[in-house]
Amino acid sequence: IKLTVQAPTLVNRDFVKPTLCGPGPCDVWPSVNEALTKPVISPICDEHFYVLDDIRAGLKYVFQTNCDTVLALSGSGHGGMETVINNLVGPGETLLVAKGGFWCERALEMAKRYGINTITTTVPMNETFSLQQLENELRKHRPTALFIVHGDSSTGTVQNLKGVGELCQRYGTLLLVDTVVSLVGVPFFMDDWKIDAVYTSTQKAFSGPAGISPVAFSDRALNKINNRTHQPPFYFDVKLLSQQWNCYGSTRVYHHTLSSPLLWALRQCLQEVIKETLPRSWARHAATTKHFLKRVEQLSLKTFVPKPEDRLMTVTTVVLPKGYDYLQFSKYMREKYNILIFPGIGQTVGKTLRIGLMGVNSTIQVADAVADAVAGTLIALKKSSL
Ligand code: GLV
Repeated sequence: IKLTVQAPTLVNRDFVKPTLCGPGPCDVWPSVNEALTKPVISPICDEHFYVLDDIRAGLKYVFQTNCDTVLALSGSGHGGMETVINNLVGPGETLLVAKGGFWCERALEMAKRYGINTITTTVPMNETFSLQQLENELRKHRPTALFIVHGDSSTGTVQNLKGVGELCQRYGTLLLVDTVVSLVGVPFFMDDWKIDAVYTSTQKAFSGPAGISPVAFSDRALNKINNRTHQPPFYFDVKLLSQQWNCYGSTRVYHHTLSSPLLWALRQCLQEVIKETLPRSWARHAATTKHFLKRVEQLSLKTFVPKPEDRLMTVTTVVLPKGYDYLQFSKYMREKYNILIFPGIGQTVGKTLRIGLMGVNSTIQVADAVADAVAGTLIALKKSSL
């Protein structure tokens, strides 16, 4: 047989894993590493169904919801973003996007591709929205849905969501929320806050691998899904996915083959949260990040987010003194200390470092190691930068 393409040589390179302290992915729980090697299960066997059921039960806990339409998508957090938007807002309908950091830009880009009318309301990137601002926009436009980011990894802000759901209900608007970098690290209450659709990801405060994204829809959202006239993409259709995930207790309809390692990993991430409990996880993230902030202030560095109540307790954004280069700073941290942090993204490029202390890395020891490395890097790069 004559092959037209010859087999390549795949070289095994040495790789020293850095401590992952960027905005994600972060390091995974040892038990999650183990779970990733569990046997592959077929989508038609009972074990598969039990794993899906366990995951749904765990997700209801982490989202704090008693709604039925709770499942995990094959795909990264971006898949979750696509899904909440395209299942609930059809072509020609209006999506109001609360625009602060980078992720709302992504939502806008996606919505435009689905033929959705988009409107925006904006805040400076290191601030958050007031209820008054959101209400003015909801009253003016009465959009089908409002998209808002809870924790923003590009800016290090956390949006207060209390009261936003009530406002949305008053104006006949569905509330769609991104909790990719906030869930499990920061308090979140889907039912109490009247949120209609939410998605998250597993590679941030869950301390798991990317590729499977939890989503949840309220009964209001489900009503829209059941009565909509548009068809979302097949792969992201929650009407079909909720049948595969047996959300209503009577269906196990095959839709697509989910990745077994990712299902086991997500189940184990949930097990870790259940073991710790949500309140303790939130308290640990807050204590670690506050400790890190104190260390940063002792280095005379400023945080990018001026108001303490707007600061996200999973990703911290830090401003360097004039003369330092953010990319060079992050590279030096990796080369010298084997700690991976990120510079800004989108509008925050050249304005901030982004440091994630999440999941398994949300400890005082890791916070101290990162702060020590920042201190060393400040000194090392001083001469060359200033
Ligand atoms: C990725 O999630 C990032 O914040 O850069």
